[in-house]
Amino acid sequence: MIIPRRYLITSALPYANGPAHIGHLAGCIIPSDIYARFRRLMGDETLFICGSDEHGAAITLRARKEGATPKEVVDKYHALFVETFDKLNISFDKYHRTSAPLHHRTAGQFFHDLYDKGSFIEKETEQYYDEEARQFLADRYITGTCPKCGYEGAYGDQCESCGSALSPTELIHPRSTLSGAKPVLKKTKHWFFPLDKHEKWLRAWIEEGTLEGTSHHYADEWKNHVVGQCKSWLDNGLQPRAMTRDLDWGVDVPRDIPGSEGKKLYVWMDAPIGYISSTKQWALDNNGDWEKWWKDEETQLVHFIGKDNIVFHCIIFPALLKEHGDFILPSNVPSNQFMNLEGNKISTSRNWAVWAHEYVEEMPDRIDELRFYLTKIMPEHKDSEFKWSGFQESVNTDLVNNLANFINRVIVLTNKYYKGVVPEVDDLDEIFSARGGDEISTHEGEMLDLFDRIDAVNGYLRKYEFRNALQELLDLSAAGNQLLQFNEPWKQIKERPEVVAPVIHLALQYVAALGLLTRPFMPDTSDRIMDLLNKPHLREDGELLRATNDLAEGLHLVKAGERVSAPKHLFTRIEDEVVERQMQKLHDTLEANKSTQYEPVKDTLSYDDFTKLDLRAGTILEAERVPKTDKLLKLTIDLGFEQRQVVSGIAADHDPSDIVGKKITLLANLAPRKIRGIESNGMILMAQDANGKLHFVSPEASCENGATIS
Ligand code: 2FM
Ligand code: ZN
Repeated sequence: MIIPRRYLITSALPYANGPAHIGHLAGCIIPSDIYARFRRLMGDETLFICGSDEHGAAITLRARKEGATPKEVVDKYHALFVETFDKLNISFDKYHRTSAPLHHRTAGQFFHDLYDKGSFIEKETEQYYDEEARQFLADRYITGTCPKCGYEGAYGDQCESCGSALSPTELIHPRSTLSGAKPVLKKTKHWFFPLDKHEKWLRAWIEEGTLEGTSHHYADEWKNHVVGQCKSWLDNGLQPRAMTRDLDWGVDVPRDIPGSEGKKLYVWMDAPIGYISSTKQWALDNNGDWEKWWKDEETQLVHFIGKDNIVFHCIIFPALLKEHGDFILPSNVPSNQFMNLEGNKISTSRNWAVWAHEYVEEMPDRIDELRFYLTKIMPEHKDSEFKWSGFQESVNTDLVNNLANFINRVIVLTNKYYKGVVPEVDDLDEIFSARGGDEISTHEGEMLDLFDRIDAVNGYLRKYEFRNALQELLDLSAAGNQLLQFNEPWKQIKERPEVVAPVIHLALQYVAALGLLTRPFMPDTSDRIMDLLNKPHLREDGELLRATNDLAEGLHLVKAGERVSAPKHLFTRIEDEVVERQMQKLHDTLEANKSTQYEPVKDTLSYDDFTKLDLRAGTILEAERVPKTDKLLKLTIDLGFEQRQVVSGIAADHDPSDIVGKKITLLANLAPRKIRGIESNGMILMAQDANGKLHFVSPEASCENGATIS
């Protein structure tokens, strides 16, 4: 007996600094929608919350780029999100925004409550300040060389090349992205949250599901990669973290707190509270009670996020909630990994993405196809890859050939042989063989099998294994196709009509099951299947639970005597032109990136200056990685008259074993310098392609080592 529960489901608030792309959709928007719909279908009391994240450096950086105010930027993208998510049939109960006054009040009050409890440590620290732009610099506004891997474009909070979390003062050669100036350290005061004090209970909660001070047990199993990331944070030791910033765009630190002038909440304290304010707005709009969703231990709180948000949702936000005292903690944080596109990382700045708003414009009749494919390749446990050819193949094979074909056949046959009326099955026992072979099926046995199949889909959905759930659904449809294929009603109808009725009757049960099970993944398809069965669209108020209970009691989903509609195809094939058009778009992006990536020609140089460069042909004799770096190789170069040791930052693009014997061009009279403690005598010339990959500039093989290049 399943007892309905209460679920508060959140989807990570997307930054309103650009349109949503397939990475956002597959990362958390679609999985959270599937889960919310599933919970409603199971009769659980469900609230599904999201909104736009409208503060933080992501927004102000974009505003600078667009020459607009932050407000203009967030208004534009918030409106686009609302419209696009609606077209994608995302069933948010509330989609709110963090610039709303209600959110400012909620986040400000939350901060004040912690301040009043003495939960913060006030500390004066030195932070980078841009003297030209006259402002303190958010971590994202500082770039420099990563101390871990040598990558030159690392940000103050993270190196995107090696993934290390950084603090701005760790960067080598820091630069302000506002003015390009070298930032200076300047004293400023902030409120720090002592995360280190929360380490012990966080560990027990994450590893064992027990929560200090309560008898509540958090029984849901978390994904391995989520637990792994949390453990590694805990093992490294938690540090106090500043909860405020010197900024002019964000939620004010409450002004009655001394020293709050010019201070805003850190965006990672502000954004998750957006879940709470969004719930409050929902309650105001619907005469509901927000507190039972956040403060009653019976509520299961589930955060859907991408992997870059794990620490914020599994460590920092829970610690803030627990410290506050009134709030429940998440039951699960089913984070996904990343989705790549056609071999490259999705990138907003390089326009390498499938933009959700463009998709819904270009293919308004294929919303469920996108939802389907994104679920099929969802990066649940590891990164995955979106390919337009994969999209085409999945739609044509799984949806057209399998699902739509099966349902169409059943409806056609019901109309043809029974005038659209679901046939009676009088003698239910031992009259046909459902799946081939000699085994005779009974209706009862087949209905139990159907129950098991539905239960398997539900089981996977409960465990957040959406890909497996979808595969079970497709298997159910394939089994339906087999049922028809093996029993060939079109042949039997003349000779043994008594076996056709039970086959069609059973096949119609399958169709009804598919009407239910497609609902979380493809809500519009579910509606169209229900139309074919002449049944009302699902309202997501426990229908799946009732159907499984009915089946368990031997009741059927479609009853003899009910009437189906005229047949209508559910899906059409994706033709090659569609894929070609989309690939052309991506190709155009690559071309455009090439033309914009050329750097301006540097200042004119005298011939004499040029002749100072001593360029020589050489051959790589030995190559090995520099330990603890991702980018550096130590190379031995044969210059004919001598051998040279050179350290080169090419390891991301070249494996040591592949480049031994390679002809190269060496700048031979560059002053020696030490890189990671290893002396480097010269520099190898490399050319960079549109994707940032480095290629050797090689003289022809006949050119002997040591030959001058001029
Ligand atoms: O990483 C991001 O896109 C953030 N805007 C996510 C915020 S989720 C939550 F905390 F609201
Ligand atoms: Zn790095």
